[in-house]
Amino acid sequence: MPPQSVVLSLLIIFFSFGLCLGFYIEDKHNETNYSSKQSVNVNDYGAIANDGSDDTEAFEKTWNEACSRGATLVVPKYSVYNLKPVKFSGPCKHHTSFKVYGTIKAWHDISAYKHRGLWIMFDNVNNFVVNGGGVINGDGRKWWQNSCKVNKTLPCKQAPTSVIFSGCNNLKVKNVKFKNAPQMHLRFDKCFNVKASKLVITAPEHSPNTDGVHISGTRNMNIRNSVIGTGDDCISIVSGSHYIGATDIKCGPGHGINIGSLGAGNSEALVSNVIVNRATLTGSTNGVRIKSWQGGFGYAKNIKFLNIAMRNVTNPIIIDQNYCDRKGPCPEQDSAVKISNVVYKNITGTSASKVAIKFDCSKAVPCKGIQLKDVTLTSENNGDTTATLSNLLVAPRPGHSWRLSEEVSRLSDIWRSSDKSKNCSAEPSGGSSPRPLLTLKRGGLSPNNLA
Ligand SMILES: *[C@@H]1O[C@H](CO)[C@@H](O)[C@H](O)[C@H]1NC(C)=O
Ligand SMILES: *[C@@H]1O[C@H](CO)[C@@H](O)[C@H](O)[C@H]1NC(C)=O
Ligand SMILES: *[C@@H]1O[C@H](CO)[C@@H](O)[C@H](O)[C@H]1NC(C)=O
Ligand SMILES: *[C@@H]1O[C@H](CO)[C@@H](O)[C@H](O)[C@H]1NC(C)=O
Ligand SMILES: *[C@@H]1O[C@H](CO)[C@@H](O)[C@H](O)[C@H]1NC(C)=O
Ligand SMILES: *[C@@H]1O[C@H](CO)[C@@H](O)[C@H](O)[C@H]1NC(C)=O
Repeated sequence: MPPQSVVLSLLIIFFSFGLCLGFYIEDKHNETNYSSKQSVNVNDYGAIANDGSDDTEAFEKTWNEACSRGATLVVPKYSVYNLKPVKFSGPCKHHTSFKVYGTIKAWHDISAYKHRGLWIMFDNVNNFVVNGGGVINGDGRKWWQNSCKVNKTLPCKQAPTSVIFSGCNNLKVKNVKFKNAPQMHLRFDKCFNVKASKLVITAPEHSPNTDGVHISGTRNMNIRNSVIGTGDDCISIVSGSHYIGATDIKCGPGHGINIGSLGAGNSEALVSNVIVNRATLTGSTNGVRIKSWQGGFGYAKNIKFLNIAMRNVTNPIIIDQNYCDRKGPCPEQDSAVKISNVVYKNITGTSASKVAIKFDCSKAVPCKGIQLKDVTLTSENNGDTTATLSNLLVAPRPGHSWRLSEEVSRLSDIWRSSDKSKNCSAEPSGGSSPRPLLTLKRGGLSPNNLA
């Protein structure tokens, strides 16, 4: 049987939106000078490396000094320090920075974590830099064993995120390794102007909920040149996040690059202007996914997935507006987070499952303006790949129309081989009387009125 592949190429009209990510915080500190007036070394405030003792108090003292002087807190090389939950709060003088050359390790005793969601938090610090090339090790093994996802007899309880940046403006996090977080590795919450780069985030594939980078309520953030392989999402972008860029990301294993989940518990979710460019996903359960619960409201719009390579990804392209991961069924509801203007361009590689593209949109609030160009996804196992669609409105921009290309014809083969495919209709935008341009029916594509 000859291998079949999904080749989708629809004419695409770009809408433009700007990413205002132009700022850059220069790192003026000399990385080799540990004891300048601008630097405060944790060893000088009572931290003792490599002895397994609790260094929390020493770090707090060092932080207070660095923060009040606008100096650099230094965690020296070849040194391991142990921290209990700790909050490094601002506001601080400008040029405060945090350089991790050595290793910061999470305190081993779970009972020390009174607020179970928290290990290290940077709160309300502006114009702040974290770098140094060292390691932040969440030592999550014990937490994972106590996760209800691993041991089904245990109750579901929160576990700490390794590092949370909360309410930080003009933040740069560069060249830091994060490993084995109890739950998420790195969270940006209500931040503004964030540059994250050269991050290496690793945790075992089976570790539960260990997202790499979680972005919520954050505006103007760019994450680039990073390698993320964990047990959950590489990057997750949730409500309140706008103008988010992810560029040159290597992802896998894990659950891929995700927008969502959105709208849980009938909540409002607002996400806009996200660009994922030049990502490579390897062996992940999803490639690029947008997921929302039924019953939410708000929007996820103006999203571009560009130049993405998939290697053996189970769901390479997926929109799931009927997301439900709780026990028991999620009943049908008549509202949903509206998903519109999503571009998939130049996405190639292999799918581990038969369904390479899945748009499972809401009946109540169908997906709108989903555009694909140069999407070629073949089967990892030389089998068929298919696409499934439901409740999708494809609207060209006013003044433009779809063209039936060879690729679109080949699309019909895909639909034919997919027994799950439902009707897909395309309507001209702005037209009050919907004139179908593309009608997809079970058993085939009929190109009605194609320009
Ligand atoms: C950094 O400091 C070290 C030691 O003080 C010095 O030798 C080196 O030249 C400095 N580098 C820069 C770029 O200032
Ligand atoms: C390095 O530290 C020394 C000793 O505190 C200080 O005198 C010197 O100015 C520092 N150099 C730089 C480049 O910061
Ligand atoms: C699951 O948790 C229960 C209750 O703490 C414990 O008795 C059991 O040994 C755990 N199972 C595994 C596989 O760790
Ligand atoms: C398509 O994306 C791949 C990365 O997956 C990149 O290497 C290639 O240059 C892109 N092609 C075009 C035409 O931009
Ligand atoms: C592809 O992914 C599947 C499912 O995740 C896995 O079983 C298989 O070993 C992978 N194949 C390769 C070549 O990595
Ligand atoms: C699909 O289209 C056919 C004919 O246009 C219609 O009869 C049928 O109800 C549609 N099915 C769905 C699930 O929309």
